[in-house]
Parts: sequence; C-alpha cells; structure tokens
Amino acid sequence: MKDNSDIVRKINDVRKKKNAVILAHYYQTGDIQDIADFTGDSLALSQKAAETNADIILFAGVKFMAETAKILAPGKKVLLPDLMAGCSLADSCNPIDFKKFINDNPGRTVISYVNTTAEIKALSDIICTSSNAVKIVESLPENEKIIFAPDRNLGNFILNKTGRDMIIWKGTCHVHEEFSLEGIIKLKKQYPEAKVIVHPECELPIRLVADFIGSTSALLSFTEKDDSKTYIIATEPGIIHQMKKSNPGKLFLHVPPRDSTCGCEECSFMKLITLEKIYNCLLNEAPEIIIDNDILIRAQKPINRMMEISRRLGL
Ligand code: 13P
Ligand code: SF4
Repeated sequence: MKDNSDIVRKINDVRKKKNAVILAHYYQTGDIQDIADFTGDSLALSQKAAETNADIILFAGVKFMAETAKILAPGKKVLLPDLMAGCSLADSCNPIDFKKFINDNPGRTVISYVNTTAEIKALSDIICTSSNAVKIVESLPENEKIIFAPDRNLGNFILNKTGRDMIIWKGTCHVHEEFSLEGIIKLKKQYPEAKVIVHPECELPIRLVADFIGSTSALLSFTEKDDSKTYIIATEPGIIHQMKKSNPGKLFLHVPPRDSTCGCEECSFMKLITLEKIYNCLLNEAPEIIIDNDILIRAQKPINRMMEISRRLGL
C-alpha cells in the first residue's frame, strides 16, 4: 500500500492554517475519505456545507456537489481540486432543452435531483437527493403535478413508490445504468445468502432483484444494522471502503458492468480527485467554484426548500 504520510501531513498543515474543511463523498478513494473532516452522501454533505464555520470548503467530490455547497454558503470560498470532475447524469440535462421541457408541460412543480448544474437548479422549484426524494414528493399535496429531472431511474423509483402524476426527464448515470443483471445472478449462485443492495439510480431489472434500495448512506447503514455476512453492491464501489470499515467481518462484492470494456466500473469523475490535487488546491486556493450571481440567487430557493422540508421531516 502507498505511503501517504507525507502528503497527508502537508494537507493537515495547510488546512489548519487556512481554516479549511474537507468534505468527501462516499465515492472518493479510501485515502481521501480517511483524511476528510466529514464523509457522507449528497444530502449530509450539503447540510455540513451549510453549517460549517470554516473559511474554506474543499469539496472532494464532483462539480454539482461543490456548486451546491457554494449556493448554500455563498460567503465562503469553495474549492474543487479538479474542475473536470463533472457528472454524466448532470450533463444529460442542459438548460435550453430543460427550459423547453418545462414550457411544454406547464402547471407542474419542477423537482430536480441534486445531480444537476446550478443552471438547472435555478429552473427548478425543489431540489432532492436520493435519500430524501420519496419523502419530498410525498410532502406535496396529492394532486400536485410534477416534472422530475434528470434521472429516469430515480424518477421511476419515486413514481412506483408514490404513484404521483410525474413526467420524467430521460437522463441516466453512466455507472448506475450499466450494472449487469447476469453478474448479480452469477454472484447470487456463488453466495446464495448474500443480500443485493442497490442505489435508486440503477435500472429497473436491477432494482427488481434488490433486497434493499437506498442512497449511499442508507446502503451503508443497512449493512451496519442487518445481520447478513455478504452483500452484493450495485452502486459506485467507493462506498465499500466505509462498509468494510464499519463491518470488518463481512464480505462486499461489487456488481460488474454489462460491458467489461466500458470503463464505467467506477465513477471516472469522482476518481479525478487525488490527495496531491487536494493539497495543491488548498495551497493555491484554486480551482475555486464561481457561480453567476443571478443563477446562484435563483438556485438558492429550491435548495433551501429541500433543506427546510428535510429539517421538518427530520431527515
Ligand atoms: P448519494 O446522494 O446517494 O450519495 O448519491 C450521489 C451520487 O452521485 C449517486 O451517483
Ligand atoms: Fe454522477 Fe454517476 Fe458519478 Fe454519481 S456516479 S457523480 S451520478 S456520474
């Protein structure tokens, strides 16, 4: 295993000197999760960003997450160690087409997943994450008509749970749409006792064979409370780092993609972040997340609405 002690010491020195907080998503590599001040799912990371006293937030994650932190804490400097850390799902919904989609379907409340650009958030009424999406939809009056974007799998998952009148944008994530059902069946034959746990961004056939479906933090806490010994995991494999840490005696098996040459076994965007880039980013205070002020102000409203509903429901 690589000795990271030198770079970790340098990161610790600079983050202390600059009063910076490092927030890491569960899809980051284990070495980054281990040095973060806080590791969590999209909702928990947004909540942390909103309440931190630090002067600088360094986001070890992807751009939409860092943008959400900036929108929630506009007075702080928000850094993302590599601006190329995007998201194929966020990219599947562009503002011009989305505006037309909203205009073509008038009279609907626009709920957008947090995996969207700031521009898409600015066009939305409420934001949700995978951990509060169903509850947010259920919190609305039953007859309220909804547009949901951009993930068609999460949208269908919410639709099946709530039965609400929803029109769904047809976006997907390149990691979650690729999991192989055959791969799950093979693993299940080898480990018949294993539980299949799945992120709601996965396609329907994968969700249908799941023992449990949830956000990254919900999947993690399922493995902590459940008494099985083996799990078959259909989400980005970074989360397995935390699962192993909190369940040392258990076995975690990752579902392979349908096409072994697709390069989508992990989130290539998340994996652009490295300890070296984190250090340089803290040192140079760049790259920094800058959002056009008009977009930032308009994106605040739907994010604050999500935070408010989450607080009210104790999520
Ligand atoms: P979570 O909110 O469940 O952590 O998911 C984030 C994500 O990007 C899923 O692909
Ligand atoms: Fe986006 Fe998919 Fe990566 Fe999540 S795993 S950040 S949805 S590309």
